[in-house]
Amino acid sequence: MTYVLYIKNIVRMDKAMDKLVIKGGKELFGSVDIGGAKNAAVAILPAAIMASKDICVIENIPQIEDIECEERIIESLGCKITRIKNSVTIDSTSLNNLNANTEDVRKMRASYYLIGALLGRFKKARVELPGGCAIGVRPIDQHIKGFEALGAKVTIEHGTISVEAENLIGTNIYFDVVSVGATINVMLAATLAEGTTVLENAAKEPHVVDVANFLNTMGANIKGAGTDVIKIVGVDQLSGCSYSVIPDQIEAGTYMIAAAACGGDVTVNNVIPKHLESISAKLLEMGAEVIENDDSITVKSAKGLKGVNIKTLPYPGFPTDVQQPMSALLCVANGRSMINESIWESRFKHIDELKKMGAAVKVEGRVAIIDGVERLTGAIVTATDLRAGAAMVIAGLIADGVTEVTNIEHIDRGYPHIENKFKALGADIVRVSY
Ligand code: EPU
Repeated sequence: MTYVLYIKNIVRMDKAMDKLVIKGGKELFGSVDIGGAKNAAVAILPAAIMASKDICVIENIPQIEDIECEERIIESLGCKITRIKNSVTIDSTSLNNLNANTEDVRKMRASYYLIGALLGRFKKARVELPGGCAIGVRPIDQHIKGFEALGAKVTIEHGTISVEAENLIGTNIYFDVVSVGATINVMLAATLAEGTTVLENAAKEPHVVDVANFLNTMGANIKGAGTDVIKIVGVDQLSGCSYSVIPDQIEAGTYMIAAAACGGDVTVNNVIPKHLESISAKLLEMGAEVIENDDSITVKSAKGLKGVNIKTLPYPGFPTDVQQPMSALLCVANGRSMINESIWESRFKHIDELKKMGAAVKVEGRVAIIDGVERLTGAIVTATDLRAGAAMVIAGLIADGVTEVTNIEHIDRGYPHIENKFKALGADIVRVSY
């Protein structure tokens, strides 16, 4: 049976709206520190609730809205959470509610990791269906296929998914599509199953590896994460541990692209250069200078970069999450560029916003054909989703005149202190409440 879920595009209405006002045209200089990886952290926090003894202390958790949202959800299950800056402590020994159904659950995509985590530890869970960015149909059939293969009964009723098993029994599971979410979710459940589970055609993203490393630090037995075959030997229980989340590949890529787009000389600190190879390669191909150090990357660029073609692919291919920021840069690159978005079918909604600023782009299905223009001009534009928001900020930074980016609740879900970080690099950008 195939289950297809449509996401809900929920914007917070409970506080004054903010917008970013950007006066474009400044080169960027200096250095920027990258935070912990959002897409690792939003899976590691649910993984932490699988500890039936001791507490988890997790460092390098980014200060973003999606994390705050997930912390509230985990507290609603009966766990105790304390946060000091980027360090989060989770005591899940008091977890007593297997029913995740608050408004926060519906707001964010990654709340679905609670299904795998609760199923693994308690063999039972009820979780409302998740929200997230409106970038296309976001099915969870591969998650369900994995849970069922482990022996769980899965039902969806009234917008809630229920999973239950007498016992979870390890088995071989072949994913029909490469899915980050399904790989992590089934890995969570299989960690506490009886016997051995082998996940084939697994996602290889750095955050999949980070979650596996975290689970192993808790006492799991997982091998092969980072390849397309992951072997999980089930263990009886997991314990709390101390762990530090990897740097955010997508945040880093966004600042690298911004540096290339604006010109200047920017060092992006606290990164794993290997995770950024596909982005570095494209910037080099465009004519920017990219210098890799042990844990930082410097991007230097002058105007006059040339257009390139991009196809988004699972890791180690070019990340779909960087496609939108990259499209803003390609709007002012020389010549024609083509973007083929192979992961999400609706990840070009921001193109209409870029066109308001003078971009010359034609979208045909999953392909955007971009003819570079000499300049973009400031306009009032909206962040249609998280990475679209980052694209509009970059467009505003390079445009002549003033750009206002509205709907930045989306940006706050995934980029910590974006205006402060750009301001420190010399950009003219302010957050205004209205
Ligand atoms: N897919 C299925 N069935 C499934 C699951 C996925 O057909 O059961 C398809 C999707 O429709 C899509 C492809 O497989 O075409 C990849 O989806 P995946 O499951 O990998 O995506 P996800 O886990 O829902 C995560 C990130 C996204 C990122 C994608 C791809 C989180 C919370 N989200 O989503 O991040 O775009 O992987 O790398 O980890 C973002 O950060 O802006 C963002 C959207």
